[in-house]
Amino acid sequence: MEQELLNEMKQVFTEKFGDKETRSFFSPGRVNLIGEHTDYNGGHVFPCAISLGTYALVADRDDNKSRLYSMNLADKGVVEFEMSGLKYDKAKDWANYPMGVVSVLEKAGYKCSHGFDIVINGTLPGGSGLSSSASIEVLTAVILNDAFKFGLDMVELVKFSQQAENQFVGVNCGIMDQFAVGMGKKDCAILLDCNTLEYRYSKIALKDASIVITNTNKPHSLASSAYNVRRAQCEHALNELKEVKSELNALGELSNEDYNKIAGHISEQLERQRARHAVYENNRTLEAVEALENDDVIKFGKLMNESHFSLRDDYDVTGENLDTLAELAWAQEGVIGSRMTGAGFGGCTVSLVKNSAIAAFKENVGKAYTEKIGYAPSFYVASIADGTHRIK
Ligand code: GLA
Repeated sequence: MEQELLNEMKQVFTEKFGDKETRSFFSPGRVNLIGEHTDYNGGHVFPCAISLGTYALVADRDDNKSRLYSMNLADKGVVEFEMSGLKYDKAKDWANYPMGVVSVLEKAGYKCSHGFDIVINGTLPGGSGLSSSASIEVLTAVILNDAFKFGLDMVELVKFSQQAENQFVGVNCGIMDQFAVGMGKKDCAILLDCNTLEYRYSKIALKDASIVITNTNKPHSLASSAYNVRRAQCEHALNELKEVKSELNALGELSNEDYNKIAGHISEQLERQRARHAVYENNRTLEAVEALENDDVIKFGKLMNESHFSLRDDYDVTGENLDTLAELAWAQEGVIGSRMTGAGFGGCTVSLVKNSAIAAFKENVGKAYTEKIGYAPSFYVASIADGTHRIK
């Protein structure tokens, strides 16, 4: 399958850029199993990289120009840019992600001494909350590190990729997506402490069940402004808590009990709810990982459901499409747990479904969702993949 896709890319490469020697790279997308909107609150996340992602064929050029072509966005044609002094350029559309990585590396003293011809081909549904942008960012960082022998390790490349998104593209995301994409490991989820960046891998051996991703297919909404509002509300709540607990650095440091003791110091009811989600979700994530590691998949599933309730009721980032998918999933036989994944407002749910029940799950959820919402969802049975790498 992969080879077929690369062969097709090679043909397109030759059409666009001529017959040159190329190197191949793959960068996954990610699905977060639990720990949502906790990363920028200094809490834990539990994502994994998935086998859907972004491929690149890359050839060196001997000047300072890069030419990029995405097979998924053929209407945008070949996008060109210089490898230094880059500024965000709306007209360059998706190429701002790779441009951002070039730019933050240059600012940190890692200069690219020539450009590239690159063909990109993604298998991730764009705008679905499975981190297609982080996938391209880390892909770019890995291509540049490989070409120029910068000697940066993956965690450093992950941080530069997040910086590109924050400073160049202007989306104030946390580190989860880039970290999961870059540091992913086959058949493992990553328990990451976003406060310290300490992490460990946890084997996902579900025996008779699978991870099913369901895409709401909701047309793109203004998620990034609502995302930034949530961040600001949590920061404000944290600052009020610091007035009574000066040693507090992040909401992710609090137990539920400690939070409840001091929550009254947050003046706005809405901000109390936001902070409560951040605190409870972080502790829920730790409890869920422990359950999974003790082979208690049922408990893990219950905690996934609770995560969705909290994201719906306290954090208010689910909306009709995600709530419909989750409610339908909960009602199906063989569903161990189901919740929204990613930023929310649209995008995907993640469900643990018994293998014997997957066909009926797709059929029933697909039909009822379409009846209610007016268009169909899409389903992907995820396999957990390695992080961004050169394909040998
Ligand atoms: C988006 C962001 C992440 C994280 C999630 C919510 O995916 O990019 O940093 O905050 O939302 O958990």
